[in-house]
Amino acid sequence: MTASVSSGPAVPLKTLRRISELRDEVAGWRRDGDSVAIVPTMGALHEGHLELVRRARDCCARVITTIFVNPIQFNRQDDLSSYPRDEASDAAKLSALGVDLLFAPPVEEVYPKGYQTRVSVPDLSDCLCGAARPGHMEGVATVVAKLLLQSLPDRAYFGEKDYQQLLVVRRMVRDLDVPVRIEAVPTVREPDGLALSSRNLLLTPDQRARAPALFRVLRALAARLEGGEVPAAAILGEGRAELAAAGFEPIDYLELRSGDSLRPLERAEPPARLFAAAWLGPVRLIDNLEIGPARGLSPQRHG
Ligand code: PAJ
Repeated sequence: MTASVSSGPAVPLKTLRRISELRDEVAGWRRDGDSVAIVPTMGALHEGHLELVRRARDCCARVITTIFVNPIQFNRQDDLSSYPRDEASDAAKLSALGVDLLFAPPVEEVYPKGYQTRVSVPDLSDCLCGAARPGHMEGVATVVAKLLLQSLPDRAYFGEKDYQQLLVVRRMVRDLDVPVRIEAVPTVREPDGLALSSRNLLLTPDQRARAPALFRVLRALAARLEGGEVPAAAILGEGRAELAAAGFEPIDYLELRSGDSLRPLERAEPPARLFAAAWLGPVRLIDNLEIGPARGLSPQRHG
């Protein structure tokens, strides 16, 4: 019988704040021949984030998680200031999963005085969340490009929960020849279907009870579209009415688009995907769902 090894008290997670320290640490790992994965986050970690970390852990010898609430991807000051932050509890979760390093730089380290450069991926950024939140996707592409260049990992992990973001990052990496493989992880959900999100913490009990309607409506629409019902516009109109009846107001979008190019679709031709964003009180929830037999897992494309 194998003796069980007590893990003892969790070792405090090594946390770095400076890009130069991050580079030195990664250079040491590279000298040892270790592969490196990065999981970029804005903190307030939940099981969705932790699933990305587990996947990274399974693939690479070293795992970096970053926590940086990126001011340039917020288009509303109140959203930035109300974003939940709890680094100590995040660090404990990451340590328990065996993450090697937390990189949590201050804003001035990432955007020093006089910072100018932006990375934009216009075609994929101007619709959906990009239309509802001007500058958001550019802010994401810019910070992800910076984090990848700071750490030069083999793989970087992103959730399908933010599907448009995933496509923007893949395209940015391809266009800029960044030598990293982008890995997509399916959306982790609560038992009632609500996609895990740091913003769920901001829902009142009443709003939390209404929130699963977003995924419920997506699933019902997907079933109808998979069954060949057309036109999509009429079906989506009914979906919007159902969301409104469940208390979502306003509905930023409920759309059928290509899961590759985000081109709007009139019928469910592969790789079709439903996309939704809607508000419950002050909280904006997003979700998306692939249409078709292979629902849940999108094909791996390498950046
Ligand atoms: P954040 O919202 O903290 O999410 C970090 C990563 O976790 C993203 O790749 C996101 O898609 C993934 N994620 C969040 N909820 C998930 C869920 N329920 N299931 C699976 N994955 C989930 O997304 C960002 O931060 C930022 O835009 C960032 C990429 C860090 C750039 O600032």
